Amino acid sequence: MTRSSENRPHWSAAMRDFDCLSVRKGVLHIEGVSTLDLAEQFGTPLFVFSESQLRENLRRFREAFAKGWPGPVDVLPAMKANTLLATRQVLSNAGAGADIYSPEELAGVLKTGVNPERVSVNGGGKPKDHLRNCVEAGVRITVEDVHEIDLIQEVAAELNKTAKIRFRVKPVVPNLWKRTDFSQMSVPIDLGIQVYKSGIPPEYLVEMGHRVFMMPNVELVGFHFHAGRHHPSLWFWEGMMVRYARLIGDLSKAWGGWRPSEIDIGGGFASPRDPFNKEFPRSEFLLTAVGYPFLVGLRGLGEKAYHAALSKILAVLTDQSDPKTPPTIEEYGRAVTSTLSRELAANGVDPDGIRLQLEPGRSMYGNTGIHLSTIKTVKRQTKPIPYTWVLTDTTYFFLAGGMLEHNRHPFVFVDQPEAPATQTADIVGHSCYADQIVLGAKVPDVNDGDVLALLETGAYQESSASNFNSLPRPASVLVYGTDAELIKRAEDVDDVYGRDIVPERLTRAIDPRP
Ligand SMILES: Cc1ncc(COP(=O)(O)O)c(C=O)c1O
Repeated sequence: MTRSSENRPHWSAAMRDFDCLSVRKGVLHIEGVSTLDLAEQFGTPLFVFSESQLRENLRRFREAFAKGWPGPVDVLPAMKANTLLATRQVLSNAGAGADIYSPEELAGVLKTGVNPERVSVNGGGKPKDHLRNCVEAGVRITVEDVHEIDLIQEVAAELNKTAKIRFRVKPVVPNLWKRTDFSQMSVPIDLGIQVYKSGIPPEYLVEMGHRVFMMPNVELVGFHFHAGRHHPSLWFWEGMMVRYARLIGDLSKAWGGWRPSEIDIGGGFASPRDPFNKEFPRSEFLLTAVGYPFLVGLRGLGEKAYHAALSKILAVLTDQSDPKTPPTIEEYGRAVTSTLSRELAANGVDPDGIRLQLEPGRSMYGNTGIHLSTIKTVKRQTKPIPYTWVLTDTTYFFLAGGMLEHNRHPFVFVDQPEAPATQTADIVGHSCYADQIVLGAKVPDVNDGDVLALLETGAYQESSASNFNSLPRPASVLVYGTDAELIKRAEDVDDVYGRDIVPERLTRAIDPRP
């Protein structure tokens, strides 16, 4: 495993600290295990996770935030980013809390013995039986809807318990004017946050607080704010904390000096090789909008000139020249804790002793995982537009989170991790969709049977995999030192059709009806 920045392969350039990936004897290793051996032993496609990287990420978040914050700090990794029970067990054993969304995520995380006081139950429109489970389990309920508080009071009264809740707020952030990465459209972060459904609009909060203070079975303990991965910079985090603290200060004043005992800043911090929303360059709109009539017009010059122009513009569209390195966990921790404590004090709220919570998803899990697949074939055409496809045995349906977020995952051919690129090709999956996993990738000479590792796939990929084309979802393996253990078996055809029900009348030999 690599700790210094020396002898780093090019794809490791963003990693300034601990990296579970290294090259040994010319082969990509995850911790002490060869990825070639993993592919051989478990088959491909395969999700692989590093336990040491997960532990290290948790340690760094804890230390980075504890250093600058005048109260306790809890790390509540987002379960949605990685729902595997084994990785969750690692975190629960290490005392981490959890951000969960669905009743099923709650059931999963409770199985691993997590401290319920450190579980934040998020999500709008929570049904009554889910709220009942929450109150019974003693988790924190993060309220998103105006009327949810009445339902919580009802359920808690029935159970004769006190429900501890936080308001998920939605500060107004006109200071965050840069272009959001959340959307393919060029709009400011402020607008991106406004149109995101989650969070209670500020106009309702004062009245909601007054109502909760009168409720016998509900206790308001703090605030929650999660905006998403809009921008990787510290500028974003500082700006967000300024407005979050201002809103907390305003509410504290409106409630006669009430002080929160917990403040949760959600997730949204970038993972080290941040692949978020990078599949298409931002110039795409301009190039296609302006380029489309131009290209169509070029047909007048004849097919040859037309196709020559098409191949040139394709190269520009798929070019990726902006691999910005996000800040480190330590820089993030410093920026958040210093800004938030300063701004809370400036807004009349003493931060001393307040419990600070964070819910990293992609930045907790992203670099813990790689996805291995085998090259089935390399397919080329030279006319009318030269093009190459590297066809793999995986699919972007197994990497659905990445597809939705237009991720551009870095990749390595595992037995030639530092080979120079000799060609441009689309790395594609084997479903019948276009299945473009990495568009316009710069790849070395590769052959059928070579193993490819897609990096930064530890968050949102395995948890969002689907079965399109009736493809069975891949297995997951956890590596720790030189050990590799299966933590989720691959599906088979019986799993794929396991929930289907064919009505009996249809199974009778021939249906006489037309
Ligand atoms: C409430 C909440 N917290 C944390 C996260 C994790 O976000 P990220 O993976 O961007 O860190 C999410 C993701 O959607 C979320 O909804």
